[in-house]
Amino acid sequence: MKFFVRTFGCQMNENDSEHIGGMLVRAGATRASTAEDADVIIVNTCAVRAKSEEKLSSYLGRLSSLKKKRPVLIGVAGCVAQVRRHDLLKKRPFVDFVIGPDNYLEIPAILERAAAAGPVIETGRSREWREFGRAETLRESPTSAFVTVMEGCDNFCAYCVVPFSRGREKFRPFESVVREAGDLAAAGYREIQLLGQNVNSYRDPATGCGFADLLDAVAAVPGLAWVRFLTSHPKNFGDDIIGAMARNPKVCRSLHLPIQSGSTDVLERMNRGYSREGYLALIERIRAHVPGILLNTDIIVGFPGETEADFEATCDALRRVRYAGIFSFRYSPRPLTAAARMADDVPLEVKRRRLLVLQGLQKTIQTEINASFVGHELEVLCAGPSPKGAGRMAGRTEGNLVVNFPAPAEAAGRFVTVRITGSGPYSLHGELAG
Ligand code: 5AD
Ligand code: SF4
Repeated sequence: MKFFVRTFGCQMNENDSEHIGGMLVRAGATRASTAEDADVIIVNTCAVRAKSEEKLSSYLGRLSSLKKKRPVLIGVAGCVAQVRRHDLLKKRPFVDFVIGPDNYLEIPAILERAAAAGPVIETGRSREWREFGRAETLRESPTSAFVTVMEGCDNFCAYCVVPFSRGREKFRPFESVVREAGDLAAAGYREIQLLGQNVNSYRDPATGCGFADLLDAVAAVPGLAWVRFLTSHPKNFGDDIIGAMARNPKVCRSLHLPIQSGSTDVLERMNRGYSREGYLALIERIRAHVPGILLNTDIIVGFPGETEADFEATCDALRRVRYAGIFSFRYSPRPLTAAARMADDVPLEVKRRRLLVLQGLQKTIQTEINASFVGHELEVLCAGPSPKGAGRMAGRTEGNLVVNFPAPAEAAGRFVTVRITGSGPYSLHGELAG
């Protein structure tokens, strides 16, 4: 049996797909290189924005025509599977199984059941952390590995579907995280990314040890060079975590800290649990203890009731913080969320304009930040061939900046020093130093 997994959405979904792939291989299946070549296609879906679901729609359309040509089992996994369940099957009768994020351990059995008599729906919830078997992960990168430390979210931000798709917070046992980090280091991985919807609220179920302790323990694993983590929530970003970043040189001086809006009024309606001033003060504390850190963020424009003044406050926050990169989105109502019951009253043209203005402002800021590295030598973890073309490789700096440079293929997976000779808004380029 040949399988193909197509992943939409965040790093958590990417990591889940790696686990699913690993389990299927253990069950005797092989990986197909394209959907056209597979007997089973699993689509791992994202429900976070309306656009994520639109992309899924067109992909499922493609799969439906594929299925008209030859028999193939089609499964929908992930966040859309969890929140749409029965509706999904009603609209897409060609789907053979629907499987929520808490049910991946049963995938091999579900496949058998779906093949015998579909469709199968498995979207039960688990309140406990469910462990994948050791070494059952088919990782995409030989250098950098994801390690999930918690899943789910208890925050109920008004716009966000995640508490409904991923359920309440579930924490992975501390030793299990540290053991996986050790196994990965022993297998040659140089970088790990700790994953969770809100990693800062991590608590070891047995001992109550928090995220700062976990960072200390993972940073102490011999052989690992870089440790990153995402996503952080400003409300749970305690001084103990700042301390752990400051004292562990392996913890990258790079942080993704979603602000969502620069207006306290909007933040309150979003139920974010911090004010504009609180967020900006947190950034100052982080910068004071972790000098040189590069920051990234997520921003939503056009949340219900967002005024021109609210939007201006967000632009102002960008000017003050000077992020190295942002992910910015137009608000879209999501099923089951509190904001879906508010009037979606910012007109589409206004949302579009605000997004363009915000992205234009950010482009100027990050062009300046990137240009400030020209002439410097930076350590780069080379990921592989650059999409920019022949003979060039690409990698990331500790601050998570993308660097393109000419290098032999053997550089892949290694740390190299690159002298930065030029920059643009989205990347740096340079040449190998020394
Ligand atoms: N509309 C627009 N953007 C959203 N996000 C989450 N929910 C929505 C929504 N309903 C954005 C947030 C979050 C990122 C992953 O997606 O900025 O941090
Ligand atoms: Fe999308 Fe959120 Fe699910 Fe990740 S957890 S796939 S971002 S809805």
